Amino acid sequence: MPLHVIKNSTIMAFITLEGIDGAGKTTHLQWIADYLQARGVQVVVTREPGGTPLGEALRDLLLHQSMDIDTEALLMFAARREHITQVIQPALQRGAWVLSDRFTDASFAYQCGGRGIAEARLSILENWVQQGLQPDLTVLFDVDVDVAHERVRGHSNPDRFEQEQLTFFDRVRSMYLHRAAQYPARFRIVRTDQSIVEIRVALSTMLTTLLGVSADA
Ligand code: TYD
Repeated sequence: MPLHVIKNSTIMAFITLEGIDGAGKTTHLQWIADYLQARGVQVVVTREPGGTPLGEALRDLLLHQSMDIDTEALLMFAARREHITQVIQPALQRGAWVLSDRFTDASFAYQCGGRGIAEARLSILENWVQQGLQPDLTVLFDVDVDVAHERVRGHSNPDRFEQEQLTFFDRVRSMYLHRAAQYPARFRIVRTDQSIVEIRVALSTMLTTLLGVSADA
């Protein structure tokens, strides 16, 4: 697994968590942060869209204001640019690891898979905004669409994405799986219909690999 930056013998990593709404990724976010911190890693936990004051303002619009699909994609990447320059790059430069609840794979999954924007168009924005920056590890929390949809339907105040139909999430999930197949070195898939213990074993194996220590150390 390639590591992001190696500078002054400090190894930093950029980790992203992905999955369709209701897949259960947020449950595992803090556990991953705690796992890394317990091993002496300085971790910055952040999210997209969001992570900066401007990004959070854009998040509010993106989740609640109806808009053209291209506007939606552009705002996702505008928020991302701010996130990269204000949070992600500075954290990596000072030797911290970054753990982000979603990143660009979500744009491919939701804006291309879900909304139907051509992948080639988003790749242009990806190159423009990221200038080569890519996560070192992307954990895709995966579950059947009907299970996830049932969980999301229970939310009291669903946002614009959570209100989408099952077929939308089917397309989003297919695109996530397609990307995982396209970038096998970076992606790890974790089924969230396993027990929490099984999920944590899988996560600790990945993180241990990334930390460069043997799984049974
Ligand atoms: P998320 O933080 O997972 O929502 P919640 O806190 O309610 O679990 O993500 C917010 C929504 O934004 C989610 O439905 C996916 C969507 N999204 C995109 O459509 N494109 C993107 O590039 C990103 C980062 C998120």
